[in-house]
Amino acid sequence: MTKSLLDSVMTICLRRGVLFPTAEIYGGLAGFYDFGPVGTRLRNNLINLWRQHFVESQDFVYEISGTTLLPASVFKASGHLDHFTDPSAECSRGHVTRVDQFIEEKLKIPAEGKSNEELAEIVREHKLRCPICGEPLREVRSFGLMFGTSVGGERRQAFLRPETAQNIFLAFRRIQTATRAKLPLGVAQIGKSYRNEISPRQSVVRVREFGQMEIEYFINPDQLNECPLFSELKNVKLPIVTQEVQQEASEKGSTEYSTTLLTVEEVFTQGIVPNQWMASVLGNEMVFIPQLGIPKEAIRFRHMRPEETPHYSGGNFDLEVQLSIGWKEVIGNAYRRDHDLQAHMKGSQKDLSIDVEGTKVIPHVVEPSFGIERLLYCVLEHTYRPKGEKRGWTWFQFPPQMAPFDAVFLPLLKRPEFEEIAYNLYKKCQLQRLAVLYDEKGRIGRRYARADEIGIPSAVTIDHQTLEDKTVTLRSRDTLEQTRHRLREIPRILQKIKQSKGF
Ligand code: GAP
Repeated sequence: MTKSLLDSVMTICLRRGVLFPTAEIYGGLAGFYDFGPVGTRLRNNLINLWRQHFVESQDFVYEISGTTLLPASVFKASGHLDHFTDPSAECSRGHVTRVDQFIEEKLKIPAEGKSNEELAEIVREHKLRCPICGEPLREVRSFGLMFGTSVGGERRQAFLRPETAQNIFLAFRRIQTATRAKLPLGVAQIGKSYRNEISPRQSVVRVREFGQMEIEYFINPDQLNECPLFSELKNVKLPIVTQEVQQEASEKGSTEYSTTLLTVEEVFTQGIVPNQWMASVLGNEMVFIPQLGIPKEAIRFRHMRPEETPHYSGGNFDLEVQLSIGWKEVIGNAYRRDHDLQAHMKGSQKDLSIDVEGTKVIPHVVEPSFGIERLLYCVLEHTYRPKGEKRGWTWFQFPPQMAPFDAVFLPLLKRPEFEEIAYNLYKKCQLQRLAVLYDEKGRIGRRYARADEIGIPSAVTIDHQTLEDKTVTLRSRDTLEQTRHRLREIPRILQKIKQSKGF
């Protein structure tokens, strides 16, 4: 049997220190992964690119860092305690299955958002059995997704946050007062979230601990169609899957959806998205995601069906990426209206409105929510290159800014005259804030392979000619071309490659 793409990507990830199962020597813990030395660099680069694009280059966005554990009262008010559940079905041997996903995979019909009764009916009608042991599945129940604990001697009930967003709503007034910001105000947060997923799987695509990068854009409800990003983004083309297309497909018993290519301006003026802010948020994502090495053709925005959308939402659009395991949601975009601030005003009895020219305003919120690990997996799959004729090993074609290192330095022979020049040049580049690696072990071909396997864009080799004329070879990961350059030019050339798009 040929290996799936996911398995191939995971094999190299395990071998080269991208990621590995948590507590592996004790048999692991399902749904938890650690990032190794290479994976940590990739993850940090992804976060930095995101921060640069969505926070640092915007005048009105501020970033905070909240705690991951929050008191139960927060989740009572937000509705998570009562409603943040997934439908599960248990078999007589006690195996629990996430039943809506199981139905979608097994029967190829949409099931997300259906009620427990509707799902139970499908299970009965199709006589579905436990995917683990084959016993019949029994009643469908709601399975709470939050991890709970108790805090301190007083044993106050608390939960690990299932989204980073809640800290932002809780501290909204403090942030607004401290920054003296007016509306619109964006508050970003990058951090861990936790969900006790029933069936974690597909490597880091569905895990129980994961990173999120979220922004809550707080907007005056009278100015939802006055987004400062709109004029810059209005011509960006968005591949949209409308609700009508999904309805038609569902009537034919299919989950294959066609997309319509519309500009940011068109989705707004045609009323496909709820407001100009949402249109602009989608446009900004369409600009950002391809820069990570995910091709435009593998991206679509799916208008969530009514049954998938919370009652308070004014419209949700998921950015989905096509993977070997199907289209997967990578960013959830939601128009949350004033639901969260209202809920916390009620729960805490504190006023979270702000004063706009003498009038109390409760801002509305548009929220893009990115999953770090899921997005990183998409990058890994889309930049993975199998063995080819020109090179007998697999490699990653990361865009230079995503790559774990900018360059590797290789003395051709393990002799002091080669090593000294190579090491000094490596150190010089390090001082110039380039991320560099020094590798002197093994044959040169093997060392090139090792560098390609973790997607390093450039390899600098110090060889016999270097000793004569102070030039080195620069090997390009993408073209395999080798060009000669003066030794002292190398830091500048590497900086230039780092800033390039690479594709
Ligand atoms: N605050 C809104 C929110 O959390 P969501 O659609 O539930 O929305 C946002 O999650 C993103 O977080 C998803 O698009 C996905 O990338 C990521 N995510 C959610 N659950 C995940 C899981 N179990 N494992 C990995 N990533 C997950």
